[in-house]
Amino acid sequence: MNSRGIHVQSVDKSFGRGQARTVVLKKTDFVAETGLLTMLVGPSGCGKTTLLSIIAGTLHADGGAIEVLGQRLDKMGANAVAKFRSRNLGFIFQQFNLIPTLTAAENVSVPLVIQGFGYRYAERKAREVLEWVGLEDHVNFLPAKMSGGQQQRVAIARALVHEPPIILCDEPTSSLDSENGQHVMTLLRKAATQKDRLVLVVTHDNRTYGFADHMSEMEDGKIFRTLTTHEEILRHHPPGS
Ligand SMILES: Nc1ncnc2c1ncn2[C@@H]1O[C@H](COP(=O)(O)OP(=O)(O)OP(=O)(O)O)[C@@H](O)[C@H]1O
Ligand SMILES: [Mg+2]
Repeated sequence: MNSRGIHVQSVDKSFGRGQARTVVLKKTDFVAETGLLTMLVGPSGCGKTTLLSIIAGTLHADGGAIEVLGQRLDKMGANAVAKFRSRNLGFIFQQFNLIPTLTAAENVSVPLVIQGFGYRYAERKAREVLEWVGLEDHVNFLPAKMSGGQQQRVAIARALVHEPPIILCDEPTSSLDSENGQHVMTLLRKAATQKDRLVLVVTHDNRTYGFADHMSEMEDGKIFRTLTTHEEILRHHPPGS
């Protein structure tokens, strides 16, 4: 087993009780590897965000094994999970979630400041990463003064600034037009392949499927098919389909 990846085995998760109980994940297995952009795709409500939240340690599974970077999250206490998360994971969401009163550079600095780094170091790192995402001219901009695509690139910079080995993204392109979506996916794929990270993208935006190296397809809480090469992904999901 590759201790640098994500290995989810036989995970169960349901919400509610009695008549209102919804079983979302049922003995679900899932794997993702470092150095690749993995997509988790499937129809609305099939359980993608639920699985992502369990991997992120923000939601407790009812059973099963969740191993991330060789560590069993399901066996850790809440404090250990929180520490593990802040060190090893970066997050990107559909709605960017930037702090509106902070500039781009300040937003990107936040994960470093939380980890106890000094402001000056954090600001310098933030500028470096903002340059990597092509926003060197926007470091002092407030989110409201940037386009959706630019805001999402700030969010990518924020997710990368503390150099976590894993980046988790939930619908990162669904608020963006096609061109900005492609730009964001290009950066996410670079973050995986050039920087040897594990990038996991949950999506049902089929305009972006061509960026995946590895694709797990989910329905009713189960991975029913895994496509492991670019060619296979394009064969099953031809562009424009
Ligand atoms: N906190 C919750 N309480 C009750 N039910 C929930 C909760 N979170 C999710 N669910 C239910 O679990 C199912 C899966 O939800 P989930 O958000 O994982 O789907 P998804 O695949 O991410 O969908 P989408 O593509 O629309 O984001 C849905 O039926 C949803 O209503
Ligand atoms: Mg979702």
